[in-house]
Amino acid sequence: MTKKITVIPGDGIGKEITDAAVAVLKKIDDVYQIGLEFTWKDAGGTAYDKYGTPLPDDTVASAKAADAVLFGSVGGDQWDHLAPDLRPERAILGLRKALGLYVNLRPVKVMDVLAEYSPLKEEIAKGTDLLIVRELIGGIYFGDKCESEMHNGVERAWDLENYSIPEVERITRFAMTAARKRRSKVTSVDKSNVLATSRLWRRTVTRLAEDYPDIAVDHLYVDNCAMQLAIHPTQFDVIVTSNLFGDILSDEAAVLSGSIGMLPSASIGESTSLYEPIHGSAPDIAGQGIANPCATILSAAMLLRYSLDEDAAADAVEQAVETALREGYRTPDLYREGFTKVGTEGMTQAILAHIGE
Ligand code: NAD
Ligand code: IPM
Ligand code: MN
Repeated sequence: MTKKITVIPGDGIGKEITDAAVAVLKKIDDVYQIGLEFTWKDAGGTAYDKYGTPLPDDTVASAKAADAVLFGSVGGDQWDHLAPDLRPERAILGLRKALGLYVNLRPVKVMDVLAEYSPLKEEIAKGTDLLIVRELIGGIYFGDKCESEMHNGVERAWDLENYSIPEVERITRFAMTAARKRRSKVTSVDKSNVLATSRLWRRTVTRLAEDYPDIAVDHLYVDNCAMQLAIHPTQFDVIVTSNLFGDILSDEAAVLSGSIGMLPSASIGESTSLYEPIHGSAPDIAGQGIANPCATILSAAMLLRYSLDEDAAADAVEQAVETALREGYRTPDLYREGFTKVGTEGMTQAILAHIGE
């Protein structure tokens, strides 16, 4: 048996962090004999420079044919001037669409060992364990848009947000099912006091909630949710929300864990699932060997769990990350005096040391 993994490093720190995660997966494969087979493909600005497109057909074909995709990150200032369809970010948006990845899972767990690194007071952050279920291929990201037009003598641009009932239903059902394996609470986040799409969203979630009497469902406006995350994050179990709100709230929630470099994600849908850290290509630190690889390594753990059904291997990776942190290894984003400062490579080695021991 072989399991095909397409690795798409992308730009910026993408290569450094996916190299780290592949090293972990290779060690896992030695121990658990999964039969992993890796293929590397280009995407983002790197692909644009080579082929004139941020998402080559060959990359999409490889992703579709794989058992799972491990993605790094795309983007960088040097490509910001490009036309919207040629920008590096088109690569990840195009892959999500091509693979029908309508669910994005972003689990935020404040590990006890890192609770003091949270920008929140330790007593507020400690115990945070929530799952953001972000709708990923609809809403304003994929609606009609106009980059520039003249209207009453002035230039304007617009983006259209739209959601259909089936789109809201499928993400809601996913969130409800996920909550059953957790603490059975779903908070739906919208802006239904203002937006029509949010009113349809809330109506649909409210109706579906009747099918899940075992799940406690509540609703929050997104502005209030942003505040609640900062004052009382432990109240949340599963948060289900639209593409744009999920993007914004997940960066806020990520940093509760101490660093955005800790937060993994899984994107799930109609064909191959894709795993990526929630952070970007971090151009400010790219090439320095100091990026925190944990988010990508934890994304690899999600890959083992969700795409390959290798729960024991996934647990082993998660535990190895926690053990390395407990031993005091820290990349600069999490470093404090008295700990052991390491770069991407050093952190990866510290984690590898606890796999198959
Ligand atoms: P970013 O997440 O790349 O960086 C924000 C800050 O967090 C930076 O200071 C960065 O150094 C730090 N950071 C991020 N990941 C880190 C890690 N693993 N270890 C240590 N520090 C880390 O966000 P940005 O600066 O807003 O965006 C940079 C580029 O990345 C843009 O082109 C953006 O479009 C793109 N982006 C891509 C993805 C993706 O590929 N999925 C996600 C977000 C942003
Ligand atoms: C993310 C990123 C992407 C998004 C960008 C790079 C298109 O911010 O994965 O969170 O907005 O979805
Ligand atoms: Mn984002």
